[in-house]
Amino acid sequence: TPGGPAGGPEVGAAPRTASATAPAKVNVQLAVGPVRPDGYHDLANVFLAVELHDRVTVTETAAEAAADSGGARVSCTGPGADLVPADATNLAWRAVELLAAHHGRRPDVAVHIDKDIPVAGGMAGGSADAAAALLACDALWGTATPRDELLSIAAELGSDVPFSVVGGAALGRGRGEVLTELPVSGPFHWVFALADGGLSTPKVYAECDRLRGDAAVPAPEPSPELLTALRDGDTTGLAGALANDLQDAALSLRPSLADTLAAGLAAGAPAALVSGSGPSCAFLAPDAASADRIAAALAESGTCRAARVTTGPAPGARVVSAPVRG
Ligand code: C5P
Repeated sequence: TPGGPAGGPEVGAAPRTASATAPAKVNVQLAVGPVRPDGYHDLANVFLAVELHDRVTVTETAAEAAADSGGARVSCTGPGADLVPADATNLAWRAVELLAAHHGRRPDVAVHIDKDIPVAGGMAGGSADAAAALLACDALWGTATPRDELLSIAAELGSDVPFSVVGGAALGRGRGEVLTELPVSGPFHWVFALADGGLSTPKVYAECDRLRGDAAVPAPEPSPELLTALRDGDTTGLAGALANDLQDAALSLRPSLADTLAAGLAAGAPAALVSGSGPSCAFLAPDAASADRIAAALAESGTCRAARVTTGPAPGARVVSAPVRG
């Protein structure tokens, strides 16, 4: 059996470690309903995972070291790493603590996040890190947490975390955490225009409420045309159906995003939208070559910090290395 007598690291042996990856997402439809008594909004949230991934590595630490440090052990590398909190508010760390508590054990691990998903971009980077941390710890500890339990822990961490576990395409109802997986083909080609600085998700929702004022807000429903286009891998159909009810609020808080959207459309993108609560903007492209051209034009335009090309759908969180269990 691996590990020392108490299941801790063996003296003199390399510390046990496990890694998992999780994808970014774009909301191809984000229908926002009325604000609920708990402050959240009812959603019809159609998620598509895209092939940008963060990698989370968890490494066993000695119990004494954990007790001494008195808190989170989080490190982060990659673009924007300095913007990721390294304390107990880090969503990946909260995932470690919640899974440990679920199994009645101590969170005696160090967490390392290798970022590739733009930080604070409306692309669910923090949710991806939490999802990957859940899977990595489950593999490290050999706890074999049933899928439904993992998903309910994920939902406790944040509205978008269950989707990062599941990947592919899914409809999120409730506050986004009640998932139905959707049939999807592809690939769909995407360009993301990244902005400087983030937008606070709660502030964007609050601005959406403010802009709506007293107007009646209908119950959010997924668009049948959009679901058909996703299923059929129909880029033109999807381009015609993309919708984000948070876009006006994101534009109100960050008016310059209108220039970014216009630059991508002028470069030939058949459709553009703010990704989630922003400030990243997403552009659909008919094929890989067009995506490269649109990305180059966006980078040239001076309306964004950088442009990234990717495709969706992408798989959900996956363990990519785990200790060999005896
Ligand atoms: O659930 P999560 O922590 O990701 O949500 C972040 C914030 O976004 C919430 O505190 C809330 O202000 C807002 N939100 C919302 N309605 C949702 C999801 C999120 O108002 N369905």
